[in-house]
Amino acid sequence: MLSQQTIDIIKSTVPVLEQHGVTITKTFYQNMFNEHPELLNIFNKANQQRGRQQTALANTVLAAAKYIDNLEPIVPVVMQIAHKHRALGILPEHYPIVGENLLKAIKEVLGDAATDDIIGAWANAYGVIADVFISVEEDLYQKAEANGGWRLFKLFKVAKKVEENAEITSFYLVPEDGSALPGFEAGQYITVRAKAPGEEYIANRHYTLSQPSNANEFRISVKREDACDPKGVISNYLHNNVNEGDVIEVSAPAGLFTLDNSDNPVLFVSGGIGVTPLNTMLQSIETGRDVTFVHTARNENVIAFQEQIETKVNELNGKYRAFYSDSEGYITKEVLAPYVKENTELYVCGPTPFLEAVVSIAKELNIPNDKIHYEFFGPAMTLKAF
Ligand code: HEM
Repeated sequence: MLSQQTIDIIKSTVPVLEQHGVTITKTFYQNMFNEHPELLNIFNKANQQRGRQQTALANTVLAAAKYIDNLEPIVPVVMQIAHKHRALGILPEHYPIVGENLLKAIKEVLGDAATDDIIGAWANAYGVIADVFISVEEDLYQKAEANGGWRLFKLFKVAKKVEENAEITSFYLVPEDGSALPGFEAGQYITVRAKAPGEEYIANRHYTLSQPSNANEFRISVKREDACDPKGVISNYLHNNVNEGDVIEVSAPAGLFTLDNSDNPVLFVSGGIGVTPLNTMLQSIETGRDVTFVHTARNENVIAFQEQIETKVNELNGKYRAFYSDSEGYITKEVLAPYVKENTELYVCGPTPFLEAVVSIAKELNIPNDKIHYEFFGPAMTLKAF
């Protein structure tokens, strides 16, 4: 337990951290990667370069500081991060490395303002937070291993590679050892780790499982990102270098963006490749739910899974609306309003600006927060709506 004095110091340093949080975490990453270049095999270089990881960590540290005497309100955030950490194979021995470098960075940036008391208080607080993550993550590792799953990464053979459209290719993956697959919830993701040709380090990318759980195969549907953008390292590797019969490393399913099991009406709103978890959720619905799917894409050439989605929506007697931003512009309140009913559960997934727009429309349409479910691709807590 932390002493009251430590809690007071932590809380009084929040404004300083708010001012310097991002600089501290930037310094932290620079120092940490100088000392431990092997960690570049697990951190996402693309997020680093866009400053997203820095913001994510800074925000989390601040949130932890604000709630240090009662971490309860940030448990959902901790859980989401822990799922990502588990999928990436983050282990207890990594935590002291992060802690040491974080404290060193606080000292370096704050200079004389970082008194021994402040550093001591943060060392204690970091220890408490790290212990929470370590124990939640161990629990997730054990759950991942249960029911025929596995702890870290497992080899999977590409059984089938299917081009869905000009940008998206699906990979059907089966365990190389012929074992059965553990079940997963629609909306969860797996992590692919690989060293692409010409790259110095391994990269990890999370991909939503794009068909409902079955005992034989996973399917992921990968959008090819710009080859010159570090974000595209693994998607280009998969598109260009990984073929049927090849073997890749895959984590057990993770993630909390999953379909509720109520019988409330459900409204799916997807933007671009954000369709993958929502389509899996839709396909997992058996009967009896009032379903609407608003399927947005730039244009007809890059809309994915349209036939499959329309067929399933028709089977469920639901409503389907394709929305093309090239011709119709940004999504508006008028587009979504007709589909919002009493108790509608809204599921949104897509790029950050799209997601922010839909979440704010949902609020204008008085959908309560606990019925707005969203996920975007990138670190949590970089989102304004959060
Ligand atoms: C992701 C916080 C410890 C490695 C994240 C994210 C947050 C975060 C907020 C973004 C989650 C998301 O993408 O939704 C923290 C906090 C920690 C901690 C508060 C300490 C208490 C660690 C440790 C490691 C680590 C010890 C391993 C050395 C990563 C990696 C990612 C990540 C590799 C994925 C982000 C990327 O590469 O873009 N963490 N983390 N974290 N964390 Fe941690």
